[in-house]
Amino acid sequence: MGFLSSLHLLLLLSLCSYPLLSAQSPPTNASSLDSLLQDYSFRAFVRPRTGILYDATVPSNLTGIKVAAMRLRSGSLRKRGVSSFKEFSIPSGVIVKPYVTRLVLVYQNLANSSHLYYPLPGYDYVAPVLGLLAYDAKNLSAINLPELELRASSDPIRIDFSDLERIPQGSSAKCVSFDSQGKASFSESTQPGNTCETDRQGHFSVVVKSVESAPSPAPPESEKKDDDKKKKSSDSNSKTWIIVGSVVGGLILLGLLLFLVLRCRNYKKQEKMREMERAGETGEALRMTQVGETRAPTATTTRTQPMLETEYAA
Ligand SMILES: *[C@@H]1O[C@H](CO)[C@@H](O)[C@H](O)[C@H]1NC(C)=O
Ligand SMILES: *[C@@H]1O[C@H](CO)[C@@H](O)[C@H](O)[C@H]1NC(C)=O
Ligand SMILES: *[C@@H]1O[C@H](CO)[C@@H](O)[C@H](O)[C@H]1NC(C)=O
Ligand SMILES: *[C@@H]1O[C@H](CO)[C@@H](O)[C@H](O)[C@H]1NC(C)=O
Repeated sequence: MGFLSSLHLLLLLSLCSYPLLSAQSPPTNASSLDSLLQDYSFRAFVRPRTGILYDATVPSNLTGIKVAAMRLRSGSLRKRGVSSFKEFSIPSGVIVKPYVTRLVLVYQNLANSSHLYYPLPGYDYVAPVLGLLAYDAKNLSAINLPELELRASSDPIRIDFSDLERIPQGSSAKCVSFDSQGKASFSESTQPGNTCETDRQGHFSVVVKSVESAPSPAPPESEKKDDDKKKKSSDSNSKTWIIVGSVVGGLILLGLLLFLVLRCRNYKKQEKMREMERAGETGEALRMTQVGETRAPTATTTRTQPMLETEYAA
């Protein structure tokens, strides 16, 4: 019975510990942040003029994040671009899909919250995550608007990350971009002057390999090619190790419990034996005496004391 309940306990323990160990899901949701920031950036428009960038304010729980917005005509965007949209430089030839007459370009700078909304295991951010998103400008009090697609048809959109944090010796900076599902893709290290390029809207930053996760400086050519593979395999490796660890730990615990249960049983048996022996010793104290060739027990005293019949009556 004790054994069965300990088995239950074990099962429970292993079931509970696995999701606890592996649950490192992002604490926050990047797409709902986008919706929230769309709302707050549109609030910056009080009688907005076309082609002017307005800085917006964010709720206090998002302190540090910067948002700005600009309203402009699609035709103007395609013909002239926006040469200076904060760190972004939007060339001519950018097409909006689906077509809208006027759009709002939203700028996001996630600053010290970058890693919360776009966690990137194995990498360190050396620049904030910057967002460039587009929405229909028809209704400036609308919320939960769908994103529009931007496509750079000739020159790419450039993002200037000129004030990077210090890059560790021997690391190379990489541009990273996130699509609307939050999926990261890396491109070769930044151009001279720390710029990244993109042909569409999204979120962008610059990262270096984490020092802890890159112990051996591999040759750069193969390193670059294998980056994604390595990351995946190390992810699945750590998962495998967690599973193996749980199983081995469980087995060890099981063994220990089994050992304890057996010990307990043995102890009980021995205790019984000892009791029986003790009963024998106290009840039958026989003295061995030599009778001719053999030793035979002889009673020293009469075991049942003779009693007078009258004593019963007393
Ligand atoms: C984020 O929130 C949206 C709606 O609030 C939901 O559809 C989406 O699945 C969430 N994403 C994650 C990764 O939790
Ligand atoms: C921040 O506050 C706003 C309203 O003040 C709320 O809608 C939003 O969900 C909050 N965001 C987070 C990440 O707590
Ligand atoms: C980011 O920095 C601001 C101060 O600049 C601070 O108020 C805020 O709590 C920080 N946010 C996070 C997520 O660390
Ligand atoms: C704009 O959006 C708001 C919020 O969704 C809605 O209440 C309002 O009726 C809309 N206005 C127009 C003109 O569609």
